[in-house]
Amino acid sequence: MPSYVITGVSRGIGAAFLKQLSSNPSNTVIGLVRNVADTEAKIAAWKTPNIHILEGDMSSYQSLKKAAEATSTITSGSLDYLIANAAVMSSWALFDPLSVLGQDPERLTQDLNEALTTNVIGNIHLVNFFMPLILKGSVKKVITVTSGMADHDIVLKYGVYEGGPYAVSKAAMNMVTSKFQAEFEKDGVLFIGVCPGLVDTGLYNNLSEEDGQKLMVQSSKFAGYAPHFKGPDTPEDAANSILKVAENASVANGDGGAFLSHFGNKQWL
Ligand SMILES: NC(=O)c1ccc[n+]([C@@H]2O[C@H](COP(=O)([O-])OP(=O)(O)OC[C@H]3O[C@@H](n4cnc5c(N)ncnc54)[C@H](OP(=O)(O)O)[C@@H]3O)[C@@H](O)[C@H]2O)c1
Repeated sequence: MPSYVITGVSRGIGAAFLKQLSSNPSNTVIGLVRNVADTEAKIAAWKTPNIHILEGDMSSYQSLKKAAEATSTITSGSLDYLIANAAVMSSWALFDPLSVLGQDPERLTQDLNEALTTNVIGNIHLVNFFMPLILKGSVKKVITVTSGMADHDIVLKYGVYEGGPYAVSKAAMNMVTSKFQAEFEKDGVLFIGVCPGLVDTGLYNNLSEEDGQKLMVQSSKFAGYAPHFKGPDTPEDAANSILKVAENASVANGDGGAFLSHFGNKQWL
């Protein structure tokens, strides 16, 4: 009876994890969200008894502490998989390079703070709160949903200056994954960062004409990197790919601390 905790299940890839994992009645699936009532209403039509929705705001230490305590009650003190999926990517900082964003220094500082608070610091607290449960679990896997936008080589080779604050936060989280692996390898815990590829979760809906042009510039860089790339995946495909990569990865195979794509390698698209 594997147990899963997934952050950010209100929509996007997180919601797809929730639906897919709960379709197996032997799984216990705990989804963390900012707004429990909204998510409960969204999933009411298909909610199964093995789903538990708890409050878990990545920017609130107390909220994550309570989520870990409530999870422990549900699972009798253990957890098999922790999936750190929730993240923010501000639409303000999607395309412009850091020097342009820096023309509004207060807004850039706020944007970086939000990205680091949610995508990095929140995940460090999350792991710390859930680690006692993971250590008592039988699978011991912590999966962080990361991004190829944090791949140093791709940024340099294809001039990907876009999404600076977000990419900085994901690169930092990759280091957090390595640090936790270094600490808990001796306990047999696998930490792994997996990028879902490019996934249609509505981020590029309703762009202004100017941002639409900037998106084309970014897309031409992606096309240079991956000429075979046909377009974004669905959240369902992305969740499925990440789960497969996580299933196949193990400490014994040397995957601890790895930063992998949805293909299980370094091909991001
Ligand atoms: N989509 C892509 O192409 C892509 C590519 C590479 C990596 N990723 C990564 O994949 C993961 C999921 O992305 P997505 O596209 O599904 O994103 P999304 O549709 O924007 O959903 C983000 C989720 O994170 C939650 N969240 C944001 N801030 C939170 C906070 N402070 N506390 C708790 N939950 C919070 C959101 O909850 P609310 O509903 O409350 O806002 C939502 O459930 C992220 O880690 C993202 O960086 C996505």
